[in-house]
Amino acid sequence: MSPGGAAAAGGPGTPEESGPPGAPDPAKCDPAQWDTAQWYRHFGTEDAPASSPCYAEWSVGIAGDAELIRRIDRWPHNKRQPLLILAAARFLGAQISPYQDFREFLLTRWDEVSGVVLSRATQTNEAGRCAALLPSLARIAAAEGRPLALIEVGASAGLGLFPDRYGYEYVDAQSARTTRLVPAGAVPGTFPVLRCVTAGLVPLPAELPRVAWRAGIDLNPLDVADPDDVAWLEALVWPEQEFRRERLRQAIAIARERPPLLVAGDLNEQLVELAGRAPADAALVVFHSAVMAYLDAAGRSRFRRTMADLATERGCHWLSNEGHTVIAQADGSTVVPEMDDARLRGRFLVLQDGQPTAIAGPHGQSLEWL
Ligand SMILES: C[S@@+](CC[C@H](N)C(=O)[O-])C[C@H]1O[C@@H](n2cnc3c(N)ncnc32)[C@H](O)[C@@H]1O
Repeated sequence: MSPGGAAAAGGPGTPEESGPPGAPDPAKCDPAQWDTAQWYRHFGTEDAPASSPCYAEWSVGIAGDAELIRRIDRWPHNKRQPLLILAAARFLGAQISPYQDFREFLLTRWDEVSGVVLSRATQTNEAGRCAALLPSLARIAAAEGRPLALIEVGASAGLGLFPDRYGYEYVDAQSARTTRLVPAGAVPGTFPVLRCVTAGLVPLPAELPRVAWRAGIDLNPLDVADPDDVAWLEALVWPEQEFRRERLRQAIAIARERPPLLVAGDLNEQLVELAGRAPADAALVVFHSAVMAYLDAAGRSRFRRTMADLATERGCHWLSNEGHTVIAQADGSTVVPEMDDARLRGRFLVLQDGQPTAIAGPHGQSLEWL
């Protein structure tokens, strides 16, 4: 079970990693002043509607419900985020329904909902993000001329560690040309196919890169063999997004065949030692998606320093795939000063060794090469 887990600290990345109201968000009036009701109203009117009318209705309903807000406010601050209570209710069996029915469910089963909220964290594991990183991984493997050793920091259940075991369908937005990649020798239907709409000159490989070794670090690794953890991963997928749940199940089936090495702990504490365990004859890549929002500024700086050291000492490569607010620096500048903020909003920036290479859909559904 989860140790209670962190809420994202650095502001909304994707809605599921939405930070607490204290997080900075330069484009909004002053979220630092948000109370819980405003947070739920924002989630229900801005973040949720495009992906889940159900969550939008529930969240707006909670925002206007003094009794529920009072109950939520009794939880620690990092447990009040909308997705956590919504996923907890779904974990306990709440079905898509009008707000009044959902409210009834929450009130009737409040102790159980509380128990799940307090013991779990938002740890959405989205295998689709492999589509955003695959071209970079393949490029590194080709340049190095050897297989990859992968370390994912903030790996959740480790589903991002199998880019060589999934299928891909890249569709060029302009020409509609489709590039398909499948794992060698795999039987169709036994692996998820990640669809991704591309723009620009995405360096798509002719075949999938070979992965010699894979490992992850997470504060609370989820176990693909544990039915409770799997049910929680499913509950974290928004109600209407059945295709994502199906993809999740297929990815879990792959991971179950040979579960990756997952180390429990803080990425800043564990990374150097784990990197030392990677085979020396493979090209080491450390990567992360939707994780940096959970670290404060000091934690991010420490991680950047570690990556610089690993690059010097081990020739390690670094791929970052993170939401745009994370890209904002402490001094208010961004790592891509020439880029219009609106272009990044709601999407992720992919960086290779600190250099921006692409803008990705938060679930890997699109990839615009820069
Ligand atoms: C939103 S999930 C993303 C999981 C995965 N990277 C993906 O893209 O599907 C963020 C994960 O980062 C983990 N995490 C947050 N802070 C961490 C830290 N300091 N050290 C290790 N893991 C951390 C959380 O436990 C959670 O599993």
